[in-house]
Amino acid sequence: MVVQVEFNYNSLTPLERAKVSDTKDIIPFSRAYSTNLEEEYICTALKSGKTSGNGPYLARAESLLNEIHKSSKVMLTTSGTHALEMCALLTEFGENDEFILPSFTFSSTANAFLLFGGKPVFVDIRKDTLCIDEQLIEETITERTKAIVAVHYAGVACEMSTINDIAKRHGLFVIEDNAHGLFASYNGQTLGTIGDLSALSFHDTKNITCGEGGALILNNETYYHRAEILREKGTNRNSFLRGEIDKYSWVDIGSSYIPSEINAAYLLAQLERRFEIQSRRHAIWSAYHVHLTDWARSNDIRLPIVPPQCDHPAHMYYMIMPSQQAREAFMAFMKERRIQTAFHYQSLASSKKGRAINPSNKQCAVSDQMSDCLVRLPLHLHVSDDDLSYIIDCILQFSTRNVCA
Ligand SMILES: Cc1ncc(COP(=O)(O)O)c(C=O)c1O
Repeated sequence: MVVQVEFNYNSLTPLERAKVSDTKDIIPFSRAYSTNLEEEYICTALKSGKTSGNGPYLARAESLLNEIHKSSKVMLTTSGTHALEMCALLTEFGENDEFILPSFTFSSTANAFLLFGGKPVFVDIRKDTLCIDEQLIEETITERTKAIVAVHYAGVACEMSTINDIAKRHGLFVIEDNAHGLFASYNGQTLGTIGDLSALSFHDTKNITCGEGGALILNNETYYHRAEILREKGTNRNSFLRGEIDKYSWVDIGSSYIPSEINAAYLLAQLERRFEIQSRRHAIWSAYHVHLTDWARSNDIRLPIVPPQCDHPAHMYYMIMPSQQAREAFMAFMKERRIQTAFHYQSLASSKKGRAINPSNKQCAVSDQMSDCLVRLPLHLHVSDDDLSYIIDCILQFSTRNVCA
């Protein structure tokens, strides 16, 4: 989809361009969007006098997410990180149980399991999708390996057929870290419904947000009952609320992973407006992709690759620059024009904590390269058509040739 280009930066003289740069408001890399529904739902929740977890907004938001995830059961949580922690609890991670994860991911993918004694084993990523390289997984499996945590980077799926096959042969859990991939699919199957368990994030950088929030997706009924208990501080409160028992008590370990009605109300409004949100995000993503293709080729820059078996959710638009200097020069060039861009993860295997835990972990060269060379462009609903034309026009003025020379 191509956006209408109403503002032609190219036609301006250098003096006019300087003026535009000086007067234009900064275009932020990320800014949470709200429709006119969030305020209404949040006010209703406030006025109800019942703002803790397990209220009607939580039930409605979960029911909508259940529809999206079809046969799976969705439980809202206080964050994506906490949904991952619940995965670690449900799979009973213990001292020295190993889990395999990509090096190019957020700290939460590792911390959630590490907290319960798990030991991360980092694997490098594929050059095309930047997801875990499934060909490198098997050689890292030991008798202590318990799970593979697959991160769908930018909502583009990992090679899940191969990953599930490896897991089946070695008796491992598959956990999908689907923080980026709500609405995306792999071979027609919704992401989050392919592994045993999965986690979504509703942090305010995500397509659908409630400030801070997440969801746990359970693809196996055997987890349902315990997951309810873990989320409610280790009590059987949910059974009590359903009238199955006459009082509730402490029955297991657990924590406080249930979001308030305020967050659930915010989330429900966003979910109900998902079509408008997603359609605009796809328009922006496609505009970048269409207008930057030739320029990228002639500047030795790599744009995102979406394999045919994957439907992506327009979560992120990134570019891989030919060198770290080129990336720094590009970000400075955009900043001068009042456009914020952002790099992404610092490879976990090379991080201070990653090296301390696992000094013998092989170097993850592709992850290291992405830490140095990847840059992300503004992609949110406050990017107007004018902003978009301006961003694209500015990018087209940039050349890597001067930097690389
Ligand atoms: C891949 C990945 N996993 C997990 C998380 C954690 O999600 P949250 O911020 O909702 O805790 C993030 C956060 O952006 C992420 O990028």
